[in-house]
Amino acid sequence: MEDLLKVKAKIKEFTAECGHSKSLELLELLPTGKMLRSKLILKIAGVNEESIKLCAVVEMIHAASLLHDDVIDDALTRRGKPSINAMYDNKTSIMFGDILYSIAFTKLTFMNPKIAYNISNAVTLLSIGEMIDVDLGKSFNTNYDLYLDMIYKKTGSLIEASAASAAILAGLDESKYAIYGRNLGIAFQMVDDILDITADEATLGKPAMADFKEGKVTIPYLKLYNELDDSGKEKLKSIFKKELNSEESVWLKNSFYSTNTLKSSIELTKQLGFEAIEAIKDENNPSLIDIMQQMCDREF
Ligand code: IPE
Ligand code: IPE
Ligand code: MG
Ligand code: MG
Ligand code: MG
Repeated sequence: MEDLLKVKAKIKEFTAECGHSKSLELLELLPTGKMLRSKLILKIAGVNEESIKLCAVVEMIHAASLLHDDVIDDALTRRGKPSINAMYDNKTSIMFGDILYSIAFTKLTFMNPKIAYNISNAVTLLSIGEMIDVDLGKSFNTNYDLYLDMIYKKTGSLIEASAASAAILAGLDESKYAIYGRNLGIAFQMVDDILDITADEATLGKPAMADFKEGKVTIPYLKLYNELDDSGKEKLKSIFKKELNSEESVWLKNSFYSTNTLKSSIELTKQLGFEAIEAIKDENNPSLIDIMQQMCDREF
């Protein structure tokens, strides 16, 4: 916990350096998230000046991606508070996201070039992933491979790069940690997609039941579509991107239940979690299993 406070202090220090007081004010309005990427980095690289800086860079990039994501998704809550786009406007959220991204990139130029490459390349993938996510939402996507590629890019890539970069800092085998982070990251986004359906807004700190309405055919919906008969498939397509009435909500809930597709989605995340662990099983670091469990068994 103490260590995460160091990360928060470093983020503030980095932001203060740009000499723009409004950026610092906006930073104060961003509630702290779970900081799972930082926990992951610190478990791999230990706590030292370089690892704290890496955490700060990754958390700033993550926060920037959320500032943009909430504009893209029209989301008015984030981390239990009104989002910046709700409190100010879309423009402020986008510009503050850009500021956080560029401070993070500037800081990366002082780091090991392999780390700078890993992290900045992940941001390209993340941004491409966000664009694919929006583009897939233009029609009802039933292709699992397209979904998997998209969630790897938008979420898996930064977690993969965080784990690999932490391994570089610690002089460990980068490729093993990259596989660990990649599987963990994909599982993490699937859990987020499941929680959108199973959790409520108060617990999540962000809108619930929002994905399907926004055009996101996430893993539980993909599995549900595959299990339904032809008339069920038509019904599911007819409520895509719509505000549901109570009959439709009940039908959807019952359909998830009768097809076991929420359960089988959870099973898939566990399988990916095990694959993550498999990659680092000889690394002698049991806390990497704890991190996997924290990321996969979470309730928000
Ligand atoms: C939210 O990330 C966006 C996804 C990649 C699913 P987190 O769940 O890590 O968000 P915070 O930082 O804890 O709020
Ligand atoms: C992940 O997608 C967002 C990023 C990788 C930036 P979501 O749109 O599902 O994230 P939440 O649910 O809003 O946190
Ligand atoms: Mg979103
Ligand atoms: Mg999104
Ligand atoms: Mg989500």
